Amino acid sequence: MRLGLLRECAPRESRVALVPDGVEAMVAHGCEVLVERGAGTAARIGDDAYLDAGASVVDTAEARAAEIAVSVRDLGPDGGGAGPRPQTFIGVFDPLWAPARAQRHADEGATAFSMDLVPRITRAQTMDVLSSMGTVAGYESVLLAASRLPQMFPLMMTAAGTLAPARVLVLGAGVAGLQAIATSRRLGAVVEGYDVRPAAVEQIRSMGARAVELDLAEPGAGAAGAEDAGGYARAQSVDVAGRQQELLAPYVAASDVVITTAAIPGRASPLLVTAAMVDAMAPGSVVIDLASERGGNCAVSQSDAEVDRGGVTVLAPTDLVSRCARHASQMFSRNLVAFLRHLAPDGEVDIRTGDEIVAAMLVALDGEVVHPEVAAALAASQAPHGSDPEGG
Ligand code: NAI
Repeated sequence: MRLGLLRECAPRESRVALVPDGVEAMVAHGCEVLVERGAGTAARIGDDAYLDAGASVVDTAEARAAEIAVSVRDLGPDGGGAGPRPQTFIGVFDPLWAPARAQRHADEGATAFSMDLVPRITRAQTMDVLSSMGTVAGYESVLLAASRLPQMFPLMMTAAGTLAPARVLVLGAGVAGLQAIATSRRLGAVVEGYDVRPAAVEQIRSMGARAVELDLAEPGAGAAGAEDAGGYARAQSVDVAGRQQELLAPYVAASDVVITTAAIPGRASPLLVTAAMVDAMAPGSVVIDLASERGGNCAVSQSDAEVDRGGVTVLAPTDLVSRCARHASQMFSRNLVAFLRHLAPDGEVDIRTGDEIVAAMLVALDGEVVHPEVAAALAASQAPHGSDPEGG
């Protein structure tokens, strides 16, 4: 199997899909690895390191002509520049949210896998890029908040008096949220966490934070009904969402830092922090909204822009993982190697559509969108009132 490692095309993307250690693993698995010149430059990995790991360094066209081409993000509307489109492509392109990207791969006759569709089952844990990137994003979000807050995080007793610790509230306690809680605790903040899933209460407590528990009081909404069979949160009714905002308001107002990470697979992110809730925060406070790529958890956040609302700094960076490109790439690479080994157990690609993991991540096969949920999202986006987050 010839494996092409592509240079990323997305703006401000610093990760690379395979680090040299991952190349070594694939070479040991019997692959020939073709690295596009400069693929690792943004992650501070030189071509020499790939050569040492057993790869060849080639131009764009040759890397794309490999049997399987891999990158972290998608190729981009124009294929991301020169060169042919790969025949089989593995990347992360959020096809449930932006199904037009899946259609683009299909239209080009390609077979495409999206790593973000990894099923959250034990067998696929080593391939779970969402958990890997959530971990990095949660950590980075706290560093960003700490650097922007006009006070320190820990309690300090000094000769110049006692400094109160920062109060951090983390909304959404999935992978990113729990890591944000853990990192805030390590820095010495007093931390509260909230999630709509009842199972999250214990996880929040085990990270050393206080769990905020709200009585959302709609039949089936507050307790077990908040979770689907896969353990993910369900979207809530308008009434429940409004009640949630109302009950969260005093917690938000009392916090110096609010980090929001609430997400529902394939859906717009729930609105948890309204403009009025930001207005009630003390000047100097910081809100970090991690969910802005799917609409955001905070009404005033804007992707990759800094908003100053009455002295409250509201940030919604979409490139947090790129700021930690070395570890993010290392984790991504491990996940990808695990998936590639699963896809080609004997060194040759074998697309077993009956396999749970392969079927979950396979979006386009030989020019057709074959993923049922992506196909449904595509149909909905093409309906007269459907919306396409990419605008076409
Ligand atoms: P996850 O799926 O593990 O966790 C999301 C959590 O949100 C779940 O625990 C869920 O129960 C909770 N949730 C859903 N609706 C809620 C509601 N109404 N109220 C409270 N909690 C609710 O996802 P993960 O990996 O933790 O990622 C979190 C977010 O961070 C996602 O939006 C993801 O796209 C984003 N992210 C952002 C990055 C960036 O650079 N900005 C990088 C990586 C991830």
